[in-house]
Amino acid sequence: MDDHLAKYYAPKNFNFWYFFGSLALLVLVNQIVTGIWLTMSYNPSDEGAFASLEYIMRDVEYGWLLRYMHSTGASAFFVVIYLHMFRGLMYGSYRKPRELVWIFGMTIYLALMAEAFMGYLLPWGQMSYWGAQVIVSLFGAIPVIGPDLQQWIRGDYLISGITLNRFFALHVVALPIVILALVVLHIIALHEVGSNNPDGIEISENLDENGIPKDGIPFHPYYSVKDLVGVGVFLFIFSIVVFFFPEGGGYFIERPNFEPANALKTPDHIAPVWYFTAFYAMLRAVTFNLFGLDAKFWGVVVMGAAIAILFVLPWLDRSPVKSMRYKGWISKIYLVVFAISFVILSVLGALPATDARTTVAQICTVLYFGYFLLMPFYTRLESTKPVPQRVTG
Ligand code: HEM
Repeated sequence: MDDHLAKYYAPKNFNFWYFFGSLALLVLVNQIVTGIWLTMSYNPSDEGAFASLEYIMRDVEYGWLLRYMHSTGASAFFVVIYLHMFRGLMYGSYRKPRELVWIFGMTIYLALMAEAFMGYLLPWGQMSYWGAQVIVSLFGAIPVIGPDLQQWIRGDYLISGITLNRFFALHVVALPIVILALVVLHIIALHEVGSNNPDGIEISENLDENGIPKDGIPFHPYYSVKDLVGVGVFLFIFSIVVFFFPEGGGYFIERPNFEPANALKTPDHIAPVWYFTAFYAMLRAVTFNLFGLDAKFWGVVVMGAAIAILFVLPWLDRSPVKSMRYKGWISKIYLVVFAISFVILSVLGALPATDARTTVAQICTVLYFGYFLLMPFYTRLESTKPVPQRVTG
């Protein structure tokens, strides 16, 4: 209680962007609790999966609410996590001494992607089936071991009840344990060094006579109460979606998923759920063969690299200051360009590919990578603003 709450001193200048860590925790708890109750009525078999979801939606008491809280929760998780990560980019929270916090965060992000992907197969609708088919087939693009690896993952010659059963095991037991453990490590790592803040100043370097940071306030009650305001606003928006727009316009629950999985009928247009579409657009942006390997292989490499590069971010930023507030114009403009590129890629990934869209996706992919690969140069070259001694505002 004292170590992590009542005597844990956090910078007094936390703003809007600092709500999303506690909100991610809230969504995690929501997913685990609603997930446990959904599992009580779900049937993980190719004969029974789709029908058991209809049963949950129609016959199980409040089953529709559990299901919509869980499906909306999945999208909310990514909204919250993307904003949480963007905060890290803005204020240099990934920088020394918080590299480990960032690495654990990125590992959570990877585990979360796997968790969402496997969960999406469970309703056993057309998009579940064909989405899994597309993603698992990507492993087939790896030279030499690809085809065997693909079969090993599926446990069959095509996506089948066997695949569904193992994805179910991983989704409800294995990955939640991994995610929970990682979240504990993430927070322990953070509390070891203390939080960063919008000024990117280390409050531990300015202590009073009792050894307490002058710019710090106890997490409890100050931030526990402040975070409750964030929780209230979040639950308000979350409830609007759950009760009025649970399908999220076909983006949270895609339309073809109201039809049971059918191995003999491919949907016209296959796209992953919105939170993966940026990476899917990068995959499709690679249209040329290189060194005797086909475009699909290089697409997978680019997609993997787009995530891998975030892991090494702490060592790419060479700026003398942490926060965007005091960085130069290049960093500021490029962060905005980077964010816009990511949004454009997300939109393109959800649409069928055309020549023009592929060209735009190629440009955005280059801009995305440029942000990271050029960072060691522009962060060193640009002139920065002087950082104040104490936190502001
Ligand atoms: C289940 C997912 C996650 C949970 C529950 C979680 C939770 C938290 C909490 C409670 C905090 C402290 C409050 C705050 O600063 O907002 C925090 C800080 C932080 N998180 Fe996460 N996090 C998650 C995922 C991630 C991811 C995916 C990343 C980045 C790749 C990340 C990077 C960070 C960083 C860098 C900080 C320190 C921020 C600072 O001090 O300025 N986290 N996280």
